[in-house]
Amino acid sequence: MRMVAPAADGSLAIAMTTGYSAQTEGALLCINAASDWALTCVDKLAAQSSYTLIDYGAADGGTAVGLWNQVLDRMHARFPEAHLTLVGNDLPSNDNVALAENLALQLPRDPQPTVLVSCRSFYERLMAPGSVSFGFSATAMHWLSASPGPLNTHTHVQASGDAEALQRFTAQAMADWNFQLDLRSRELQVGGLLLTVNLSRDEEGRYLGNNGGRTRNVHDQLHQIWREMTDEGKVSEELYRNATVNNFYKSPEEFMAPLKDTNSPAYRNGLRLVDQRTVYVECPYRRRWNEDKDTAVFAAGLMATIRSWSRHSFASVAGDAIADEVYSRLEQRIASAPEEWSLDYVEHHQIMEKVAA
Ligand SMILES: C[S@@+](CC[C@H](N)C(=O)[O-])C[C@H]1O[C@@H](n2cnc3c(N)ncnc32)[C@H](O)[C@@H]1O
Repeated sequence: MRMVAPAADGSLAIAMTTGYSAQTEGALLCINAASDWALTCVDKLAAQSSYTLIDYGAADGGTAVGLWNQVLDRMHARFPEAHLTLVGNDLPSNDNVALAENLALQLPRDPQPTVLVSCRSFYERLMAPGSVSFGFSATAMHWLSASPGPLNTHTHVQASGDAEALQRFTAQAMADWNFQLDLRSRELQVGGLLLTVNLSRDEEGRYLGNNGGRTRNVHDQLHQIWREMTDEGKVSEELYRNATVNNFYKSPEEFMAPLKDTNSPAYRNGLRLVDQRTVYVECPYRRRWNEDKDTAVFAAGLMATIRSWSRHSFASVAGDAIADEVYSRLEQRIASAPEEWSLDYVEHHQIMEKVAA
């Protein structure tokens, strides 16, 4: 276990709100916490004349600019003659113009890499077989490829206490993860590496927004607001049931399962587990509030970062005005009891390597 103190469409489209990286300081810290392992990965690559690097689920690419700076510098230092290509991937609904602009920040640095944008779901084949040297993904692959069916009493399955729904979501999450690793393992070249940095749940059941009771469970709070608006008649019972945050926080064992199962497609393609760890990233908004007690800034910042990943679940079923009201109520809740709020991250890092199958 490692504590990190803050220093700094597929079949089911989800969308981040615009200005993603400006609103997600926590995601940036999560990427920074993985940069040591990104360098470990590229240090393992054998000498070649060219390399292809890809960031799956990059959003606007702003949070990973520093990571890719470091990786490109390290690769250029090791292989000064090699050509480097960096691909940023996200859904067609993403702000892919902003992604292209953030990738282009790498263009002036040696060895003047090629940068490309791939606007497709990572539940599809994205790259040519055997073409990827280093694949990376941060805080993205917890989104499921399809809805596992209704969630009748909550907006997030892992806060719901609904055992039957939990089974359905777990099955979907594991099918998606197996498929994801099957796809990625086909794209990797032999000797290529994949580093996934994923929202996860630890052995004590903690996950993003649930820090074991030190502060309120953020998913419970979103659900309470949604139930409140339903009880007030602003949202119908049908819309109440349809609004589901369609993601899943897997355990370390679940992340490793396709690499331990010698019959899984990824294993048969040659994908092997190299290392894994769980990393905790403290909420940067809460840390600042602890120091400055500026409650208005804290409430606005924390609300915006929660909204960046959850808004689509409400807006897609009930429209923008209702979704806006959810976040106005959320901001008021945070402002009225700031000491009871924090959005702490539990992230699972996993290094995988492709060997000759
Ligand atoms: C929380 S953001 C993370 C962005 C960036 N990697 C980071 O760590 O700051 C999650 C991203 O995953 C993307 N995403 C979700 N499902 C996806 C899919 N099926 N294919 C590609 N990207 C997807 C979303 O569009 C969003 O931009």
